[in-house]
Amino acid sequence: MSYVRTEDLVDITPASAGASEEPVALVAIGIFQDAETLSASQQALDALVDGGLTRARERGDFRGRDSDDDFALFHRDGDGPQRVLFVGMGKVEKADRETVRKLAGRAVRRAEALSVTELHLVVPALAGEEDGAFEAVRAGAEGIHLAAFDFRELKTPGEGDDAPKPLVDRALLSVDADGEAPSGVEEAIRVGSAFGAGENLARILQFRPGNVATPSHLAEVAEAMAADLGLEITVLGPDEMKAEGMGALLSVAAGSEEEPRMIVLEHRGGGEGEAPLALVGKGLTFDTGGISLKPPKGMEDMKFDMSGGAAVLGAMKAIGMLRPVVNVVAVVPSSENMVNGKATKPGDVIRTRQGKTVEVINTDAEGRLILADALSYTADHFKPAAMVDCATLTGACVIALGHQAAALLGSDDDLVEELRGAGDRSGERCWPLPLWDAYRSQLDSPVADLKNVGGRPAGAITAALFLSEFKGDVPWAHLDIAGTAYGEPRAPYQRKGGFGFPTRLLLEWVRTRSG
Ligand code: BES
Ligand code: ZN
Ligand code: ZN
Repeated sequence: MSYVRTEDLVDITPASAGASEEPVALVAIGIFQDAETLSASQQALDALVDGGLTRARERGDFRGRDSDDDFALFHRDGDGPQRVLFVGMGKVEKADRETVRKLAGRAVRRAEALSVTELHLVVPALAGEEDGAFEAVRAGAEGIHLAAFDFRELKTPGEGDDAPKPLVDRALLSVDADGEAPSGVEEAIRVGSAFGAGENLARILQFRPGNVATPSHLAEVAEAMAADLGLEITVLGPDEMKAEGMGALLSVAAGSEEEPRMIVLEHRGGGEGEAPLALVGKGLTFDTGGISLKPPKGMEDMKFDMSGGAAVLGAMKAIGMLRPVVNVVAVVPSSENMVNGKATKPGDVIRTRQGKTVEVINTDAEGRLILADALSYTADHFKPAAMVDCATLTGACVIALGHQAAALLGSDDDLVEELRGAGDRSGERCWPLPLWDAYRSQLDSPVADLKNVGGRPAGAITAALFLSEFKGDVPWAHLDIAGTAYGEPRAPYQRKGGFGFPTRLLLEWVRTRSG
């Protein structure tokens, strides 16, 4: 099973906004709910369907609301597009990059319903943004790649009526800047496509089940990607982990037949000796809970417990494609959490790489253990300018924030604010929780330096406080993605399963940092 290369993406070509006459199977454009006048491109498309848009709006059949159900589709005869689709985008003042991603997602889903594999998407320039045309094209490209993605590699392809629906594989993209000729459209497509490719790689790794996506598999994918994109790679196995004194990571892997791996990828785009940005992701390829076994209901979703690691690998793919002028190091500690005669038991005391001892009260709180060793390794070996980890770490995070935002906790207020902003812009939102010392006593142990669980109250906070003990003196922040990494689709460019979250958030942050 291969890793995703650029060729697997939708082929997106820039087109001029006035190109509504192009002979494509489907042209799609967004309409704002409260637009009093139509743009030149919208008018041209309305004219192509003999004023059908105007009639549909007058009759209230199509209102332009921000809803998957509010659209108007017209079938044409003769030259030019065969079908014209008007898609609701909601209110003008609420329009942002996510509006454009959703527009792209709705256009691609309609194309799928029609079994059409090519479309021309016209996105609105974002009036509220500094470079509104560029950002709209970027978001449009992102949305197309994300929406067109479907994980099919483990299904036997059917034939005839059983054949799978074809996926969109070709798109024209233009921006409706009302008369102005926007610049940088090709570059915007390049950036949006890299973000999409990165997030789609993360999704593939998420979707692959635990018997496919083992720690060694993640390492092999990272190796293939590094060779392809010119990234440096080091992979640690059990021997190297022993030499490093990684007792926490090894204690989690102890109950499994699959060997653990720690993947270290480097992009050297900045100055020699310049402190890198560090991305660390939990790569727990299956979490049974260990001796503190999880209940069976929904346990299959614990194949997604490597979502943080997947997002970090996805981000490195895009970074390898875009080669930003900054040094970046990615670290993915990867293990299974299983049960056998050698498995770590509740009450066992283990020694972390950094030296602190931990009383393992609950073997299901394993993510913080593998991350503890990864964080101290990253801090010591790379002395990063900033370090961000992401992990499906706690059920408590899902209780606190549901499925709309990742929990964000960090030792550095500026870094927390940067990430929150990157979350808003990328459409992968995160929201702060306090990392107060007052919670620290919940982790006190009678026999070791700390215990690995802090009880039910403030579970996402005590988990982050645990991690903070291992970050050294590096500015650090943590994203708990337990509620946002996978699940039922929450946007039209997602499907049920892995979302690749927070690949785009991490990339947006790296992009801001690289200027
Ligand atoms: N992987 C889980 C966290 C999780 C829960 C992810 C739900 C996605 C959805 C983690 O390893 C875990 O089991 N955490 C425990 C910690 C507890 C024992 C302190 C939890 O949250 O229940
Ligand atoms: Zn667990
Ligand atoms: Zn886990």
